[in-house]
Amino acid sequence: MKKQLLITGGAGFIGSHLVRLMVKKYPGYHITNLDKLTYAGNLENLRDIESEPNYTFVRGDITDTAFIQELFQNNHFDGVIHLAAESHVDRSIASPMEFVLTNVIGTVNLLNAARMAWKDGDLAQKRFYHVSTDEVYGSLTDEGFFTETTSYDPRSPYSASKASSDHFVRAYHHTYGLPVVLSNCSNNYGSHQFPEKLIPLFISNILQSKPLPVYGTGSNVRDWLWVVDHCSAIDVIFHQGKDGETYNIGGKNEWQNIELIKVLCQLMDEKTGQKPGTAARLITYVTDRAGHDFRYAIDASKLERELGWSPSVTFEEGLSKTIDWYLANAEWVSHVRSGEYASYYEKQYGDRLKGN
Ligand code: NAD
Ligand code: DAU
Repeated sequence: MKKQLLITGGAGFIGSHLVRLMVKKYPGYHITNLDKLTYAGNLENLRDIESEPNYTFVRGDITDTAFIQELFQNNHFDGVIHLAAESHVDRSIASPMEFVLTNVIGTVNLLNAARMAWKDGDLAQKRFYHVSTDEVYGSLTDEGFFTETTSYDPRSPYSASKASSDHFVRAYHHTYGLPVVLSNCSNNYGSHQFPEKLIPLFISNILQSKPLPVYGTGSNVRDWLWVVDHCSAIDVIFHQGKDGETYNIGGKNEWQNIELIKVLCQLMDEKTGQKPGTAARLITYVTDRAGHDFRYAIDASKLERELGWSPSVTFEEGLSKTIDWYLANAEWVSHVRSGEYASYYEKQYGDRLKGN
């Protein structure tokens, strides 16, 4: 009997990398990818594995209680890796309620369905894994790192919704004994990332000679990890993590936004054969994000020490691979930028870029 694994949000950025990893690495598992296909979900991300015999795609909404309960009744899932979420901070500032619905209520729906489905079985063979973010810990000054014991201090509607879902996952573990594991990861970058996030947005804008909208002074700091390395950490934690535990994931790779953007501009000039300095001329400072967290930095030593994980690439290698993918996949970019995103972009950046 194959092990049955449900991955939610598998048509999105990180989810599609994780589905590919699991389908290829574990032929003895059957992977069901449940995704609503919002603006951020795209089955083009999975063309290379969609005909594999151990893979099934199901379109559905995690907030739909009846649908989720039926899915769990009709499939005997041994494990759930839950990534489906609204994931973009700027969108959460504009429309918080969608984040409450999907990230909080959707997560509780999945927890309830897993709890019901697993109530009479051998819980030692089951696992509910919640993929979460370092943003739940709040914002750092120049000093210090987030550890697994850092108090929660979410400051955007997105991070508040993810913090809430983390609390529900832990509450189901303590109250009902549901076997769970969680991870909180820093900023991911890599192929197939929707071009609303900093790195793919700026690559795509440089290719179209559009302004690069830097929020505030560009001095905010993020800690970047290649998406493939995030997925290798999820694989290790899913299989070897201790029940009820949380693991921070990060690559010791902090960058001030403006410094990262300068490196990106230089690499883009080199790779596209433009004169040095061409891309950097597009840098445009715009009104800051409301409540913009200053710095994130992850201490991932627990994961390294206890489970032996470490990232496989340097930032230079990961960024270079990422740019190459966007250069080779102009059609993917123009497809995802042409739909709902075109009006989002105008709303998000129109006034800012006019200096209002
Ligand atoms: P994404 O926005 O690229 O993908 C989210 C996916 O979830 C999409 O395929 C979307 O269609 C699906 N989805 C959204 N609402 C749904 C619903 N109601 N029902 C079913 N499916 C739904 O996000 P991502 O960047 O790949 O992030 C995946 C997960 O990892 C999220 O939980 C996010 O909080 C977490 N995370 C992201 C990062 C990062 O840097 N991107 C870092 C740490 C943690
Ligand atoms: O830390 C993990 C989180 O990283 C994930 O949980 C989120 O899902 C993911 O979106 C990401 O959140 P950020 O808000 O850090 O990522 P974003 O790419 O939106 O922004 C990165 C930094 O760049 C941030 O300081 C804001 C800035 N920025 C972003 C955009 C989109 C700009 O200066 N200009 C922009 O146009």
